[in-house]
Amino acid sequence: MLSVRIVLLGPPGAGKGTQAVVLADQMGLVHIASGDLLRKHQARETELGLKARSYMQSGLLVPDDLVIAMVLGEIGRDGNNMGVVLDGFPRTLEQAKALDEAMAENGIDLAISIGVSEPELVRRLGGRLVCRECQAPYHQDNVPSICSRCGGELYQREDDTIEAIHRRLVVYQSETAPLLDYYHQQGKLHQVDGGREVDEVTRLVIEVVDNYR
Ligand code: AP5
Repeated sequence: MLSVRIVLLGPPGAGKGTQAVVLADQMGLVHIASGDLLRKHQARETELGLKARSYMQSGLLVPDDLVIAMVLGEIGRDGNNMGVVLDGFPRTLEQAKALDEAMAENGIDLAISIGVSEPELVRRLGGRLVCRECQAPYHQDNVPSICSRCGGELYQREDDTIEAIHRRLVVYQSETAPLLDYYHQQGKLHQVDGGREVDEVTRLVIEVVDNYR
């Protein structure tokens, strides 16, 4: 088991979830996706899920205190020393600092930022369908009738409307993009071109991890 702690950064639709699943499978890492965890809370109608829903629907960030407690609780459950790939967290400087404090030694090991042009992000998200069970993403241009990983039903996320997509992109620039500089200052930032084919992006991401090991 590889013990590396990776944060995947990038705007909505960059392919964080797509690449996190492959990294976790190929490298034996625990995959923790804050958006997936929040959607599961919504489906179970927990107090957190009910509080988060209106923020998520409109494309705004869920308040830091709620998300930090949820994700750090999940990391704690799987052990701080196991390899982990974080997808969608941290998304604010406050979250990044909380993560650094919670992690043993020197915080995370690698921050990999996946860059994609805005028109391509809008195209991907506008046509995305995801599995209700395992959250695997598909695009309407090439979509099976049910999830090819687990057989679950495919649906369109509530925040994949044009209005919410644009708000999420604006929120990314104001709240999350500053994390690039935060991790650059720590010497942990690596940028990959996410505009290429999925397999090619995977190759670039794995190259970054291999160079770290
Ligand atoms: P979250 O679920 O994290 O959504 P997101 O960051 O907006 O990211 P997405 O899931 O939309 O995109 P992705 O980068 O994972 O791309 P994907 O692989 O799916 O968060 C949702 C909401 O929850 C937030 O808006 C917020 O309200 C809340 N939230 C979550 N975390 C939070 C936090 N830390 N703090 C506060 N609030 C939080 O790919 C997208 C599409 O493109 C798919 O159709 C895929 O098949 C396709 N695709 C992927 N790669 C490629 C490629 N290389 N070429 C062509 N198509 C591709």
